[in-house]
Amino acid sequence: MPDKPIVLVTRKLPDEVEDRLQRSFAPILNPDDKLYSADDLVRLSDGAFAILPCHTEHFSADVVARLPESVKAVANFSVGVDHCDLAAARERGLIVTNTPDVLSDATAEIAILLMLGAARRAGEGEQLVRSAGWRDWSPKFMVGTQVTGKRLGIIGMGRVGQVVARRARGLDMEIHYYNRNRLAAELEDGAVFHETLESLLNVSQFLSIHCPATPESRGLMNADRIAELPDGAVLINTARGAVVDDDALIEALGSGKLAAAGLDVFNNEPGIDPRYRTQPNTFLLPHIGSATTETRIAMGNRAIDNLEAIAAGREPADRVA
Ligand code: DGY
Repeated sequence: MPDKPIVLVTRKLPDEVEDRLQRSFAPILNPDDKLYSADDLVRLSDGAFAILPCHTEHFSADVVARLPESVKAVANFSVGVDHCDLAAARERGLIVTNTPDVLSDATAEIAILLMLGAARRAGEGEQLVRSAGWRDWSPKFMVGTQVTGKRLGIIGMGRVGQVVARRARGLDMEIHYYNRNRLAAELEDGAVFHETLESLLNVSQFLSIHCPATPESRGLMNADRIAELPDGAVLINTARGAVVDDDALIEALGSGKLAAAGLDVFNNEPGIDPRYRTQPNTFLLPHIGSATTETRIAMGNRAIDNLEAIAAGREPADRVA
């Protein structure tokens, strides 16, 4: 019996994070970064007091019910927890935590990158240069949509949404938002609050999605809501693919209703809807919102802080179930 609590770590983590885990716990690491199936999770966690997974592992009600008795907590290496059935976790008495705050800057950077990349056709341009297809320059060559001074609508003015707003002000954008609750004036910092999503959509020349994927937000950006956007709008998603209806978005990109979309997250990652790849007005990234060295280490440390609290019988700071 090891004297330190056993933690099943489902993916390869930054060295600094694994070193710290070794000091506080008896981690079962995954040096080959193999993607575990539900059966693997159940089998490998036998005897572990906790699991430290990423959003790539799914804790459905079925998996939660099958977890060994020893498992008391799931300390996620992610802010999003849509891969966990929180109701099932609560019912089983399983503690679930996430890693908020520490990835807001990195994710906001990617939202701004997508905004610029999609509007200024950076993906097409890069492809042209790389493939030696660039032949000429002319006044009508690769003309895109200007970002500076445009109205940015933000769905979900939480931590990431607020950082995106701050960064976008540097591009002289006018910030509008829709959120469950109106922010205090100092957090709003001049941003215009909309009481309904439709009202926000009507003014959003750029729309950036920052709400979590929940049963209520699934398919939120459907054909009717996309139709509410101004013609030629640009849609940005760094939250979760589930918030967007793929058929509706692809149709709007094809018809010219939307000028472009910048997407870092998709339904069914990494097996995304193949139509996104052939649609020229998409700027696509492989879910790298939090992928900076600084942020990934900070996420690991936050997950370990939560695990240490749970192991010591304290309330973890980032408990979501
Ligand atoms: C998050 O933390 O939710 C990011 O999407 C990476 O998992």
